[in-house]
Amino acid sequence: MIEKINTIADEISQFFTDNAEELEQFRIKFLGSKGLIKQLFEEFKALPKEEKKTVGKPLNELKQSAQQKYDDLKQKISAQQQQNSFQNIDVTRPEFPFEPGSRHPLSIIKNEIIEIFNRIGYTVSEGPEIEDDWHNFTALNFPPEHPARDMQDTFFIEKGETEYALRTHTSSVQVRVMENSQPPIRTISPGRVYRNEAISARAHCFFHQVEGLYIDKNVSFADLKQTLLYFAKEMFGEKTQIRLRPSYFPFTEPSAEMDVSCTICEGKGCNVCKYTGWLEILGCGMVDPNVLKNCNIDPSTYSGFAFGMGIERIAQLKYKVNDLRLYSENDIRFLKQFTGEV
Ligand code: PHE
Repeated sequence: MIEKINTIADEISQFFTDNAEELEQFRIKFLGSKGLIKQLFEEFKALPKEEKKTVGKPLNELKQSAQQKYDDLKQKISAQQQQNSFQNIDVTRPEFPFEPGSRHPLSIIKNEIIEIFNRIGYTVSEGPEIEDDWHNFTALNFPPEHPARDMQDTFFIEKGETEYALRTHTSSVQVRVMENSQPPIRTISPGRVYRNEAISARAHCFFHQVEGLYIDKNVSFADLKQTLLYFAKEMFGEKTQIRLRPSYFPFTEPSAEMDVSCTICEGKGCNVCKYTGWLEILGCGMVDPNVLKNCNIDPSTYSGFAFGMGIERIAQLKYKVNDLRLYSENDIRFLKQFTGEV
């Protein structure tokens, strides 16, 4: 009997599996109701009293060790199974139900502006946001002491041989276009620009612009006015009127600022237009001959006009959003409200 117990004990101690099926076989073989240990207990009952004394303890220990082995392996296997099921989870799978995003309001307006100018033959040009002094200021006829170069307005990012800055307007892109092509030029340059301003509801340290440039023979101020009138009517509706007020920009002469008739009250006067009936939306003018010269275009043959507007300003008027900060906070509740096909 002792011998049997020892052989079975050896078998149990050497047993190992990580397979649930094999473990079940182990249980049936050793611990089942017709298992080996049960049989030994049956045999034990028939033993003479003396022998029972020596066999009882090892037999009980055998049963305990089989049970222990079973419990341990069972725990290991189920832990393993759980880990496998975690490994099978695809954490990259998109959440369901899938919520589609929507276009950013500034992109909607930008695309709308691009479409309007595409229809009258304007191409789209883009350029770097980090600019050198030449493209952002000097080529555009900014005198060296012009206040716009001041640290208050411009983020200078490197001082070395050449001074770099974050572009303060996308007029810099127009300089690049003029340097690299000859008229006729008809292009708009949408993009992000930076100015060193304290962030508030009405100002931000970056915003977006679309600037336009048209250069050819015999381009006149009347062409500028008609182009802008077309734009205003396409953007704000057929009834929209425009007015031009004299202004100053170093790179245009003459220069003007354009107002559109108030999109809310149609000119009658309300708190959006501060009871003037007009809303300012862009700056414009005839390209200064110095700028053409700087870009290797002959001002005695060619003339042109340029204009520039803030996309946030147009979006503000279209969507009646009065706090500029909302455009860059990425609050889904805000962003979800805009729909646009373009
Ligand atoms: N570059 C000017 C600005 O950023 C806008 C502008 C462009 C004005 C072209 C006139 C002509 O304010």
